[in-house]
Amino acid sequence: MTRPQNPIIAAVDTTDLVTAQTWARSLTPHVGLLKLGLAFYLAHGQAGVRAVTDQPVFLDLKLHDIPNTVAGGVTAVLPLGAAMLTLHASGGSAMIAAARIAAEKAGTARPKLLAVTVLTSLSAEALTETGVADSPAAQVLRLAKLALRAGADGLVCSPQEVAMLRAEIGPEPLLVVPGIRPVGAAAADQARTLTPREAISAGADWLVIGRPITGAADPAAAAAAIASDLARGQAA
Ligand code: C5P
Repeated sequence: MTRPQNPIIAAVDTTDLVTAQTWARSLTPHVGLLKLGLAFYLAHGQAGVRAVTDQPVFLDLKLHDIPNTVAGGVTAVLPLGAAMLTLHASGGSAMIAAARIAAEKAGTARPKLLAVTVLTSLSAEALTETGVADSPAAQVLRLAKLALRAGADGLVCSPQEVAMLRAEIGPEPLLVVPGIRPVGAAAADQARTLTPREAISAGADWLVIGRPITGAADPAAAAAAIASDLARGQAA
């Protein structure tokens, strides 16, 4: 996948099919991709994804199981032609490698595999509780390198990790960054945020943006404003 012209991924975080369809219709002209997550997928399945859009989507399922089962899951979603699919790096190299082999069966239009490292919802204490003695940052880097070596195309990472990861992993792997807040937008439950321009400057390829778009009075206008601000930033 070449670097996107419009790097905005709109997070379609709803389990209501009609709401998802309405957002998809109005946002598609203004964003690069739509992201559908686990709750939507469990509620509506592949037919639901197809009912929302005929474009390739970012399927955020965060797969994590034994290699054979994850490979089966990847194979099962290939008919959807998703652009991106997430899985947990902590599933290990064999799981990621199996996912990559399964994805390759779709040829060049295969979904890009994005690894999630340490969930941002885990504090340092919560991570210790799982048996990881390292700091969250060290664990993020360890899992990031493991995932890329094993065949992931990129990583989902938080705003506070993006510059460090870009410096460590070089220019090639995709970095997809949620926790983005346009200037003036409410942070809601995101503790550390970057603006769209800051995230791109720090090395992000794609920006996942949910509530600042879908919670706006006019979601299409909100997405268009972010896209044109980014375009101005690129031209400057
Ligand atoms: O509404 P908001 O812009 O906060 O939505 C961000 C999206 O990115 C949601 O779909 C959320 O699940 C996802 N995400 C996140 N933080 C992570 C990983 C994913 O906010 N660390």
